[in-house]
Amino acid sequence: MSIHKYLKDNEVTDYSVYQSRRQFMKTAAGLGLIAATGGIIQPSFAKTGKFSTNEKATPYKDITSYCNFYEFGTGKSDPKKNAHSLITSPWSVVVEGECEKPGRYDLEDLLKPLSIEERNYRFRCVEGWSMVIPWMGFPLAELIKRMKPTSNAKYVYFETLHDPKQMPGQKSPVLDWPYTEGLRMDEAMNPLTLMATGIYGKDLLNQNGAPLRLVVPWKYGFKSIKSIAKIRFMEEQPMNSWQKANMTEYGFYSNVNPKVNHPRWTQRKERRIGEFRKRKTLMFNGYSEQVASLYTGMDLKKYF
Ligand code: MTE
Repeated sequence: MSIHKYLKDNEVTDYSVYQSRRQFMKTAAGLGLIAATGGIIQPSFAKTGKFSTNEKATPYKDITSYCNFYEFGTGKSDPKKNAHSLITSPWSVVVEGECEKPGRYDLEDLLKPLSIEERNYRFRCVEGWSMVIPWMGFPLAELIKRMKPTSNAKYVYFETLHDPKQMPGQKSPVLDWPYTEGLRMDEAMNPLTLMATGIYGKDLLNQNGAPLRLVVPWKYGFKSIKSIAKIRFMEEQPMNSWQKANMTEYGFYSNVNPKVNHPRWTQRKERRIGEFRKRKTLMFNGYSEQVASLYTGMDLKKYF
């Protein structure tokens, strides 16, 4: 299944080339020069200026070759080398827990009523590197509303596929498999929180978490769980994989916060991939205006 049809066969090199191709496609479509593609989902490209940053996007090559995906190895280049064994079509997502519409949904059915948006988001990893990524996706809130959570649903929990045959890294106990993550309901419903299906107008590659991953731009990158196979609405706060691995180093919230250091390194600065000089890390990764109010009155040193 191809979600983003219109750039499928083009190798995207960088954002300016991508943008000018997009403009050409839009103009050509407007003039009736391109027949409708008949894709399952026609990207709508809603204007998302208030969410997108104008910062220069990281080249496609870097986003797709410098990855963290422990199911395919612990090295940054391992996912690109090894993730071909993951079968992403057909794909289904189990929805369970505190909601009125639990079930196993084929990805196609899950996505059909949604329109895909494009958002250029800063992505900041806990290890100190960052990127700017032109994601394709839809607000997680849209999916949550369709599942009709009950009043008991205080958190949303996510789980990656667990299949060591397809994900050979799961044969070694580097993490407690499957990979898991969680968000508080108001974080999950925030309009910044995205379910991503693509990058640069193309379907996600396996190494980036195909066919469906989370993107929470004001949190460290590990919250952005890849290849999601299960979503559960919960009353209790769930544990994420990195908390399970090391409670003193990783918390539930994981908000980008230059004032709270990782026990083994500072979080004050970051290196944007492709740049030499480090940048100062911004509170909430620069998204304070949209999300600071979610944490009013909370001690962010305690709830890190
Ligand atoms: N999701 C799963 N299932 N397994 C992982 O190992 N790594 C996380 C996150 N999501 C990870 C995951 C980490 S540590 C980061 S920084 C981001 O994915 C990296 O996303 P990227 O490789 O697309 O840049």
